[in-house]
Amino acid sequence: MRNEFIYQIFPQTFYEIGNSGIGNIKGIISKLDYLKDLGITRIWISPVTKSPFKDSGYDVQDYCEIDEKFGDMKDFEVLVLEAKKRNLKIIIDIVFNHTSNKHEWFKRALNNEEKYMNYYIFKDPIDGKEPTNWKSKMGGSCWEYVPKLNKYYLHLFTKEQPDLNWENKELQKKFIEILNFWREKGVDGFRLDVCNLYSKPKVYENDLFGDGRGFYTDGEHIEEYFKMLNINVFSKDKEIFTVGEVSSTTKEKSLRYAKTENEQLDSIFTFLHLKVDYKDNNKWSNMKPDLNSFWELQKEWQTCFQNNNSTLALFMNNHDQPRAISRFGDTINFWYESATSIFAFTSLMRGIPFIYQGEEIGMTNLNFESISDFKDIESIGNAKDLLNTLSEEEVLNILRAKSRDNARSVMQWDNTENSGFSKTKDLKLFLNENYKRINVQSQIKDRNSVLSFYKKVIKLRLTDNLYCDGNINFFKEQEYSYSRTLNNRKAIIITNWNNYDINLNLEIKRNEWKIILNNYDDFNFNLIKPYQVIVLERNIK
Ligand code: NOJ
Repeated sequence: MRNEFIYQIFPQTFYEIGNSGIGNIKGIISKLDYLKDLGITRIWISPVTKSPFKDSGYDVQDYCEIDEKFGDMKDFEVLVLEAKKRNLKIIIDIVFNHTSNKHEWFKRALNNEEKYMNYYIFKDPIDGKEPTNWKSKMGGSCWEYVPKLNKYYLHLFTKEQPDLNWENKELQKKFIEILNFWREKGVDGFRLDVCNLYSKPKVYENDLFGDGRGFYTDGEHIEEYFKMLNINVFSKDKEIFTVGEVSSTTKEKSLRYAKTENEQLDSIFTFLHLKVDYKDNNKWSNMKPDLNSFWELQKEWQTCFQNNNSTLALFMNNHDQPRAISRFGDTINFWYESATSIFAFTSLMRGIPFIYQGEEIGMTNLNFESISDFKDIESIGNAKDLLNTLSEEEVLNILRAKSRDNARSVMQWDNTENSGFSKTKDLKLFLNENYKRINVQSQIKDRNSVLSFYKKVIKLRLTDNLYCDGNINFFKEQEYSYSRTLNNRKAIIITNWNNYDINLNLEIKRNEWKIILNNYDDFNFNLIKPYQVIVLERNIK
């Protein structure tokens, strides 16, 4: 297994050198030493390419140009160079399921140029209406009518993000060219946005049971597409690392994408473990996380991926997820313990661990007072749909828990104005009011901070191959614990994500085990305290 620890940057809210009020590439460069000190190996940067920014850059207008709000190509080249000097590698986000509607290709498609219409998915109306009843993931229908063409085009996300037609061979060539362009810039990896949606169905029919996703998720040709990218780009250099974002997939399908022998992707993000607070599998609902399902899913997926020699990305946070500490933790009574236990427990499993900016200092969800506070297009679109059936208060409560805006407040660097994120006098981005208490500056020199604990976990994972390569096993007698075994060594990782003590059913004798990591001062070998995480190790015969 590759030994990596990857840090995700959401550029607009990370750090700005300047005063425009939006993060930039120069800002990232100036924080490379911070990232090096954290101990990570690679940086995944969410899109910095030219975009009208309807969906924070996931609506790409030009795949090979840097958006001016982030800087220019020179800045990007300096970033790669400076990162390399520190032995850090850069992974960029590749959004090939759709483009922006402002992309040249789409403009020409709308202009009735057949060549470019074939880059996208245009369909005739059926009985004067949408070709199917499928829903967009951002709310509303996933079809947009173009009167001039008397056709609808498909957009699984917003109407400003038309879906591309992967069956088009000419377009496939373009994708390869774009990936090679970035390789030549020194980029060492790609995160492929919603890549299991690339392969669309032959027949478009109404979905009688769901929102349409069953028709276009994990489509017929998807593995061919991954192999094609692998042969033409990914396999050209062993430093390249790929991670595919696969949504609403099955275990059986997804493990094939990141199975070493299949030569498709190096790893995948899946999301079932972050849907355990969805009532009836509906994101836009409120429910306490079902810890039992979380645990069952970990056992099932970890075991299955291990048995099939496939690789999961390990993560609890990203730019689309509310902060895990606010979801699974207790930010009032056990803030430090929650942040550290969620991280250590999940990132010492088998797979490639990822950190999302700000989680390393325990950043939390925001406080929203009204529906009009939300800025994210997904929240706004879905709120509109929800208001058809729910009261304003109910919708507000759902958005508070589920909105992506929670992850998109500015990074809390220190306790000065704008939390040290930018020198602007007019910050338009979200800033969490707790920044004076929770920030990098106050934690960096404190050996007992969340940040220092993160560094310990990262170091442990990267320097001791027991935690990277060890066989993972789950105990029957004890939930929330697993072991990693390699040669003659064994580690046990145990946690408790409740705010009360839990008795341990495992027989672990105090004199046989060495404590490697603990987020409390002590450990009673019979019980585990609220949000405690403990790593024990011993030699075995
Ligand atoms: C997944 C990205 O992570 C998300 O932020 C974006 O809105 C959708 N894909 C559409 O690109």
